[in-house]
Amino acid sequence: MSEGVVAVSYIGATILFILSLGGLSNPESSRRGNLYGMIGMTIAVLATVFGPHVTPAGYPWIIGCMVVGGSIGLYAARTVKMTQMPELVALMHSLVGLAAMLVGYANYIDPAASFHLVDGKSIPLTDAEKAIHEIEIYIGILIGAVTFSGSIIAFGKLSGKIGGSPMLLPARHWMNLAGLLIIIYFGREFLNAGSVSEGMTPLIVMTVVSLLFGIHMVMAIGGADMPVVVSMLNSYSGWAAAATGFMLSNDLLIVTGALVGSSGAILSYIMCRAMNRHFISVIAGGFGTGGGTPAPKGEGAQPAGEVNPILATETAELLREAKNVIIVPGYGMAVAQAQHTVFEIIKHLREKGVNVRFGIHPVAGRMPGHMNVLLAEAKVPYDIVFEMDELNEDFPTTDVAMVIGANDIVNPAAQDDPTSPIAGMPVLEVWKAKTSIVMKRSMASGYAGVDNPLFYKDNNRMLFGDAKKMLDEVLVALKA
Ligand code: TAP
Repeated sequence: MSEGVVAVSYIGATILFILSLGGLSNPESSRRGNLYGMIGMTIAVLATVFGPHVTPAGYPWIIGCMVVGGSIGLYAARTVKMTQMPELVALMHSLVGLAAMLVGYANYIDPAASFHLVDGKSIPLTDAEKAIHEIEIYIGILIGAVTFSGSIIAFGKLSGKIGGSPMLLPARHWMNLAGLLIIIYFGREFLNAGSVSEGMTPLIVMTVVSLLFGIHMVMAIGGADMPVVVSMLNSYSGWAAAATGFMLSNDLLIVTGALVGSSGAILSYIMCRAMNRHFISVIAGGFGTGGGTPAPKGEGAQPAGEVNPILATETAELLREAKNVIIVPGYGMAVAQAQHTVFEIIKHLREKGVNVRFGIHPVAGRMPGHMNVLLAEAKVPYDIVFEMDELNEDFPTTDVAMVIGANDIVNPAAQDDPTSPIAGMPVLEVWKAKTSIVMKRSMASGYAGVDNPLFYKDNNRMLFGDAKKMLDEVLVALKA
């Protein structure tokens, strides 16, 4: 495949990646978005493999690696549970970081990287080009190492292998600053090195410092901020890929990396806003710390008041009599896999003329879009699924707000209690409905570990039990 055909293929793939991102921004077009992404990636891989930079001697290696990597990916994607998705994503990011590091080292020791191809001829790099190339290598390995170790720690925290509370070392900001200065100093040494063996020492020192920096950065971040960290590492992995693109002079990798890097950064920003967190304070570490010390474990999670329990049959009665119903799903619906029963219930209610809608909080569940994916899987129509901002004002005119396995995202303390760790986080105002019903198994707190005053409100009812089991009972009662 000639250089020209490869360039055209890369432009085609870039357009498909942009269309893919556009498609993924809406549930209705997300399938198409995924398809665009897959076609774009197939074109990108084929154009790269059959392009002028790969000789046929490399084909068995590439095919072998693709079979091994593809099989592992396929197995992981088929077996992972939806609730484990953030862990898998974190692990995938670590691989992008590792790849950027390895490509950086390989590129540095590869004698051919000191030349570039012009009309099929190898021309040595000028001093300025060499310096730029070495800066690309240094920065690529730096971002790759931070992404790699940070993502491994994020995986550990999300899977519960490492404790979720933030590890706040004394003088940690000074330690980070010292790390940065070491990296800058050794960067100078690296650029001044006369040979590959001389440059190896500063490169290795920088890699070790960057790995430690990645570990330290994510260890200092509390469990409740982990979603933001995952999307931030997603962004880093994009920049690592872009840096790899610079090292390999691959335009498509640069563009793709920049797309992932910037979309990850935008997602981090949206999530920070949804959780009322400042991006800088997330990175600086410690959830609910106020002054920098972690919130004592379990504080505020003690039940504080009387609750009004309700039976499934009574819930069905309330739903049957309602004109307007808003359902707020949360993490518990995912755990109980109750989405299909939810669909049966709304189908029945809609047939009876009840106006049923869903209110989705941006950080409901354990990953962005978690609830949308589950509802789409259960074939809930998209036009009755609304974002928090779209229907928060409608709760006062709602007869029943049914909360299914959600907790933090409907916690009024976020608005009423300035001392609460979730103070200022936008929430779905279900307590403003005529009656709210919270479906969960116990009085246990949610992800943020804080008590929920909603449970004790006069117009609130608690339907205790596994969400799937309780909804099955509600459905039977509704149909009776
Ligand atoms: P949570 O606040 O975590 O509350 C979920 C509730 O579901 C729990 O209180 C639990 O109470 C209940 N539950 C668990 N299993 C259940 C089951 N089988 N049947 C019925 N109920 C069950 O969830 P949320 O309201 O969706 O809020 C999300 C939280 O996770 C936020 O704090 C958010 O910041 C955080 N977070 C979000 C993400 C993203 S990106 N979405 C990622 C990580 C963390 P019981 O144990 O009493 O049943």
